[in-house]
Amino acid sequence: MARKSRLLLFVQLLLGPALVRCSCPLPLVLNTWPFKNATEAAWRTLASGGSALDAVETGCAQCESEQCDGTVGFGGSPDELGETTLDAMIMDGTTMNVGAVGDLRRIKNAIGVARRVLEHTTHTLLAGESATKFAESMGFVNEDLSTEASRALHSDWRAGNCQPNYWRVCVHPFTLFPNER
Ligand SMILES: *[C@@H]1O[C@H](CO)[C@@H](O)[C@H](O)[C@H]1NC(C)=O
Repeated sequence: MARKSRLLLFVQLLLGPALVRCSCPLPLVLNTWPFKNATEAAWRTLASGGSALDAVETGCAQCESEQCDGTVGFGGSPDELGETTLDAMIMDGTTMNVGAVGDLRRIKNAIGVARRVLEHTTHTLLAGESATKFAESMGFVNEDLSTEASRALHSDWRAGNCQPNYWRVCVHPFTLFPNER
């Protein structure tokens, strides 16, 4: 489909005073995207005593529930079959350990699941249905990620002969949907 979903990137800086040449107040939350509510949510978490990981998770989760930019969270960027799937990754800057999910299906809080992968498993990345099963075992709710908007995006794409798409050689777009010819 046309739009790629975005991975939100939060960088949490806790610099020692020796490294800092300005009088900037620290700690600091940096967000690579102009999603203010998410940045503020991360900041509030830090200010109320949360860890850097808590702040990154809260900030990203804010965007997942606000569907920032239409490309984060449920109801965004449907795939060829019209399903929205989610990716998320979180890194612990102290240990450099990573937890991530790819192609996560029917679970809204992808960053929360990535955090559980980081903290409860020795895996780095869980994907697809396995990621969903893991999320369910951690108590996340299995629910439809489609919305009116994502259904409309998908049907507009179908109506436009499935253009653009990610195939190198596309014999005919509707061969993607053999049962509907
Ligand atoms: C940001 O938060 C405010 C206050 O809760 C809300 O009114 C606004 O819609 C949010 N912005 C976005 C982009 O969701």
